Amino acid sequence: MTEANHKRGLWATRMGFIMAASGSAVGLGNVWKFPYIVGENGGGAFVLVYLVCIAVVGLPIMLAEFTIGRKTSLNPVGAFHQLKPNTPWVGIGFMGVLAGFLILSFYGVVGGWTLAYVVKSLTHTIDHFANPGEAGKFFGGFIGNTGEVVFYHAVFMGLTIAIVIKGVHGGIEKACDILMPTLVVMLVILMVRALTLDGAMEGLRFYLYPDFSKLSGQSVLLAMGQAFFSLSLGMGAMITYGSYLPAKENLTSATLYVVLFDTLIALLMGLVIFPAVFAMGLEPTEGPGLVFSVLPAVFTGMPMGWIASIIFFILLAIAALTSAISLLEVVVAYFIDQKGWGRQKAVLVMGLVIFALGIPSGLSFGLLADARLFGMTFFDHVDNISSNYLLPIGGMLTAIFVAWVWGTREAHREIERHETTFHWAAYWEFVIRYIAPVAVAIVFLAKIFPDS
Ligand code: TRP
Repeated sequence: MTEANHKRGLWATRMGFIMAASGSAVGLGNVWKFPYIVGENGGGAFVLVYLVCIAVVGLPIMLAEFTIGRKTSLNPVGAFHQLKPNTPWVGIGFMGVLAGFLILSFYGVVGGWTLAYVVKSLTHTIDHFANPGEAGKFFGGFIGNTGEVVFYHAVFMGLTIAIVIKGVHGGIEKACDILMPTLVVMLVILMVRALTLDGAMEGLRFYLYPDFSKLSGQSVLLAMGQAFFSLSLGMGAMITYGSYLPAKENLTSATLYVVLFDTLIALLMGLVIFPAVFAMGLEPTEGPGLVFSVLPAVFTGMPMGWIASIIFFILLAIAALTSAISLLEVVVAYFIDQKGWGRQKAVLVMGLVIFALGIPSGLSFGLLADARLFGMTFFDHVDNISSNYLLPIGGMLTAIFVAWVWGTREAHREIERHETTFHWAAYWEFVIRYIAPVAVAIVFLAKIFPDS
């Protein structure tokens, strides 16, 4: 272990690393977005497309990020600088740190909503909605309430800060070692409850029946974008987590585990949501609406719904928290490695600055709802800039960098530093060179020019 590693910290166990990286990947994207887009895009048919996207975009870029991280033992800015000193490629690193900063500012707001709904479940505040309309109205009132939103946002950021400040092993790894298995147990309990409801089968049918007629070019784009976002790629989160890996760790199998875990959680989430929604005779609707409006109405009507509601929102809060941790860690690692800050200072200062920047996002559904630029609120802009621009551009450039600039030979050497079992090397080299950069570029262009 080098001096630098001592200061930065390392994962203590392979399992701890996999839990932490999975924690980053499993987030709000898995819990509400994935089930919904599967339901609307041909069920099982879409799942097949999604799995292909995972294989040709997600898997190769995740391995590329882990490899850059472990090779350099540095944050994204330091890592690109070390691999190609004094070239513009370091810009990928800066974009990543900026993206982490921006994403966390609004992710923390939504994380606050999830905590609020845990409390509101416990206090029986959200278990008496006759229909999703009522629940939606209640939700609209809640996110427009400045005091409540800022309070829960502060609590969520406080939790994130409290974990990250304890360091890679003592904070992040320990927290994820507990939180991720808890999430899985809660998911299984909810799945059993949902699947044993009368009428659950109809939901399963809606979710999984492969209807190829509903697949379109648009669904392929959705699947690709979702694969990329769900795996936390494109902003150096996996570079940062990879930088805390001891040299003896097997990168290729770790990549497979994290990808598998993330995909499994997303798929199983659908087995909770659709059987429950259909069994209660409701319709699945989009986005935050599904989680915060439809589900409280579902829980209201369901036997043992109160308990299910508590478990569900704790699960959602855990998913958000373990992703938020990784976002803060990217920013913190930059200030520790590049600016020589101590961890405490980096976590406290950056945590507070990000919280402050998040406040206008938090108020975007109330006080600042009418403060619009180009028709979009502050929240919309920060989300749009980071999710639609910084992440895909970052991911595409990362793939190009590893494939063509740093080179697959060098990357390959790093991957095989301590393992001689890179079974899918030929496949990886092919997709990281020819498929992944092009695929991400297409998704990006389609988002920027949606009508052409
Ligand atoms: N993967 C997270 C989710 O599914 C969201 C996310 C995207 C993310 N990029 C990230 C989280 C980078 C942490 C770091 O919700």
